[in-house]
Amino acid sequence: MTAVLVVGSGIAGLWTAIRAAEAGCDVTVVTKAAIGEGSTPWAQGGIAAAIFAGDAPARHAADTLAAGAGLGDADAVDVLTTEGPARIRDLIRFGVAFDRDESGIARGLEAAHSRARILHAGGDATGAAIEAALVATVRARGIRVLERTTLVDLVVEGGRVVGAHVLVEGEADAAGATPAVLRADAVVLATGGAGVLYAHTTNPDVATGDGVAAAARAGAEVADLEFVQFHPTALAVPGTPLISEAVRGEGAVIRDADGRRFLLDVDPRGELAPRDVVARAVWRRMAEQGGEPVRLDATALGAEFLARRFPSLDRACLAAGFDWSREPVPIVPAAHYAMGGIATDLDGRSSLPGLWAVGEAARTGVHGANRLASNSLLEGAVFAERAAAAIAHAASAPADLISHVHDGGYTIRRTGGGPGPGGAADRISADVDPSRASGPVDRGELQRLMWSRVGLERDAAGLAEASARLDGWRAPDPVDRRSVEDRNLLDLARLTVAAALARTGSVGAHTRTDAPTTAAAGADGARRTDLERQAA
Ligand code: SIN
Repeated sequence: MTAVLVVGSGIAGLWTAIRAAEAGCDVTVVTKAAIGEGSTPWAQGGIAAAIFAGDAPARHAADTLAAGAGLGDADAVDVLTTEGPARIRDLIRFGVAFDRDESGIARGLEAAHSRARILHAGGDATGAAIEAALVATVRARGIRVLERTTLVDLVVEGGRVVGAHVLVEGEADAAGATPAVLRADAVVLATGGAGVLYAHTTNPDVATGDGVAAAARAGAEVADLEFVQFHPTALAVPGTPLISEAVRGEGAVIRDADGRRFLLDVDPRGELAPRDVVARAVWRRMAEQGGEPVRLDATALGAEFLARRFPSLDRACLAAGFDWSREPVPIVPAAHYAMGGIATDLDGRSSLPGLWAVGEAARTGVHGANRLASNSLLEGAVFAERAAAAIAHAASAPADLISHVHDGGYTIRRTGGGPGPGGAADRISADVDPSRASGPVDRGELQRLMWSRVGLERDAAGLAEASARLDGWRAPDPVDRRSVEDRNLLDLARLTVAAALARTGSVGAHTRTDAPTTAAAGADGARRTDLERQAA
């Protein structure tokens, strides 16, 4: 029986586990906290799919590619949007009760979607509803789950991933963690993103990029790490959630310190322009007004509607001291989503035999340089379904696995390579000469450095400074969860800076102020500025 080790317990990991178990594999899920503590339950807005009359997968695909600044992979986007509706039906079978209205399943609108196609549950608690349904399914099927078990590194033998080194934490009151090796025929990394790299993030504190860092150390190809999505509307109060883009989809607007809707000066779609455009505009207007947050004005939606459609946000705003039905609330951008990650094919295979990646940890190519809202849960489901099927199939036909000889060091692939705006060379080394490292990494310092030098706007000088400072830090020995995470954050920060330095042009979420013309290769190969992209 094929032994499958799934690392991570969000939508992509649990989906892979359920489907691989159904296909007859012996599945173990490991997760470093408790099951259900990742990013998935935090997802508010919903899940996009072309299931409604008047919509079509091709339309959803066109929106996805346009939002991605022309750097999305058309084949991957076609898979995402064509297979999406079937995965929605699966979610309903798993027990997710999507919200309904008089016309059937309710549909929301979010930025850069040409149709209202966002399904939601519990108003603004879609991720929590999906996670709960998947956890219940995993439990009902008796799939083995090891909680408080942290991935340290992959075990590679003969160029093939054959398992993982993990640390198993004792009971909460027992000190230390026990190292162990879990062997498997297939290791699936579903470890999510790395928002914790940044001083301000919408992510939970488990989002430390563990899978991507471990895969890169093992020699798997990673790609597009410079494309970090910043969400434009995090409530400007530490420890509070982001305010979902769905709120803007329902009509909320963003105002500056003078009460002006400045986004219409930037893009005719205003608050519903692609997320990179809105986040950049918010960031710049904040700088112009001395760092003061801008404000999200949802007052026109009314107290009754806000409480019914966005119950969790309504409670969160009130708890933070804001009655958002009566006053605009302060908002700031925050690191939200990693478009890049472990490079995979359309079935989740990485470049290393035996290693697979799904969800935010994977770079399937669907997001290009900027993810379309509410495509992340969908990507998790669609590509996990394919990965599980391919793993089960590979057990009987091992020749299907990609063969790739790793030649040492990290391997970073970049989308739309070549010289000029948005392009660069094909291989980047983020290896560090250990003799230059002086002090142990400090997580808070690293987060502030990434925020200030590798954030919404970057330039060569700031990136070079970040690179030098990162080189000066030493990774801790991975002896417990915290040190494992810090080592991963340092590795990922170095890789992200190297990727951002190498991409010398601005495109999508990667804004180089020393190359201010935003241009990206379109699906037709033409380079487009932001304005041309709006018109396309
Ligand atoms: C949001 O609800 O604004 C976030 C949804 C997403 O990141 O797709």
